[in-house]
Amino acid sequence: MTTIATAPGALPLIGHAARLLRPWSLLRSLPSVGGLVELRLGRVPVYVVCDPKLVHEMLVHDDVFDRGGEVFDQVRTIMGDGLITCAHAKHRRNRRLVQPVFSRSRMSHYGRVMAEHSAEVISSWNDGQILDVRAAMHTIIRRLSIAALFSSGVSPEQFKQLQDDVGVFAAGWLRRLITPAPLRRIAGGLAWDRAAGRVHTAIDDSITRARHAGCPVSENEMDVPAVLLGARDTDGGRFTIDQVHDELVSMFLAAVESSSTVLSWTLDQLSHHPEVQRRAAEEVDRVLKGRTPAWEDVERLPYITSVIHESMRMNPPTWLLTRVTARDTTLGGYPLPAGTTLAYSAYQLGRDPKSFPDPDRFTPDRWAGEAPPRGAFVPWGGGPRLCIGNTFSIAETVIVLAQIMQAWRLQPTRRRFATARVSMLHIPKSIRVRLHARQADHD
Ligand code: HEM
Repeated sequence: MTTIATAPGALPLIGHAARLLRPWSLLRSLPSVGGLVELRLGRVPVYVVCDPKLVHEMLVHDDVFDRGGEVFDQVRTIMGDGLITCAHAKHRRNRRLVQPVFSRSRMSHYGRVMAEHSAEVISSWNDGQILDVRAAMHTIIRRLSIAALFSSGVSPEQFKQLQDDVGVFAAGWLRRLITPAPLRRIAGGLAWDRAAGRVHTAIDDSITRARHAGCPVSENEMDVPAVLLGARDTDGGRFTIDQVHDELVSMFLAAVESSSTVLSWTLDQLSHHPEVQRRAAEEVDRVLKGRTPAWEDVERLPYITSVIHESMRMNPPTWLLTRVTARDTTLGGYPLPAGTTLAYSAYQLGRDPKSFPDPDRFTPDRWAGEAPPRGAFVPWGGGPRLCIGNTFSIAETVIVLAQIMQAWRLQPTRRRFATARVSMLHIPKSIRVRLHARQADHD
């Protein structure tokens, strides 16, 4: 039987833990070792699937390669048991019940909310200003996520408070997970506890409002809590109130950090690629002719969409995800006993020159050609657990970026590209760009 190769550089007792302090170069070195490579975290082996064909096979067979393991047990203490964390046994039913939130018929409504809320922020910027990109993208995405996911019946003051709280909650939950309990009070833990408590209360209030409200708007414009409460499975089964709560928490945490991170990396790349910016601006001017973008415009903006795809290939927010085998199985001919932890990295796969020639070059035009091999481009995962918000997130990032390109030209403030800090998400350390009003370019 074939044996699985081990990545070089393991140390006694700690295994590859020291090398994981610089995970990006370690991950990129793995395909030269094999399609399935053993890393050791201390004594615990984790098998990283580097071959796109095997990644695809693993993602498609989610009954065998299930969610689970210690990381998800920890994440569940914060997110509850929503779609992101639940195991295969609950997943299919829950996914069917969440699906109406992302139905095609609701997308025009989301598109309007996305455009309106991002425009308010983007139009508040000033010519010549140096923009803290990450903070600005976080503000935009949490505003439009709150507005799209539940805003009816919320006063402007509550909306503002919720924005601040979702910001603290979403930006701090990963830190919360890894901070030992005795240190939480000093490491910003109290502020996080208070913000998280208010987010939970706001979610409960939104559910209560949805239960008692009539139906003031069309079904396609209903708040998400109302959609989740009203969803019925084929056998008539539905979510409990607690399950609706958990799904809403999952959506906020999944939505805010990932989309704002994608936009941040994208603006960094654009600021360093004036020619790409020029073509993006040319496309929005030609297609939109100065009007506000809508959901229906997303497919009319292929170049902007390619810019987002290219940015997500190079810098996917979720850089490492795990699966645990639910029973004895094989992958690519390698035997794997039940309980084996596997991982795949959208970062490693997106930077593999076999799938993407010249992988460190930001080349949106590569998306105009042939699609990459299956399993090679997986920033939203794949198979039955593909990100349920993927169409939503493409629409929001395209709509936000189109509006930025309509109004602003971006100039880098540093010669080098942003680098990532090591955390559970692949987040840039700091990005600042100087804004130039495009109107001024035409004067
Ligand atoms: C560009 C932005 C986004 C990225 C890169 C992203 C990425 C991902 C990834 C990698 C997964 C897990 C795949 C796996 O386990 O293998 C996932 C799952 C999920 N995402 Fe997203 N996501 C984004 C935006 C969103 C948004 C906007 C929402 C909701 C409004 C959302 C909701 C979810 C949910 C509920 C799941 C769990 C799906 C399931 O297991 O059935 N995501 N996402």
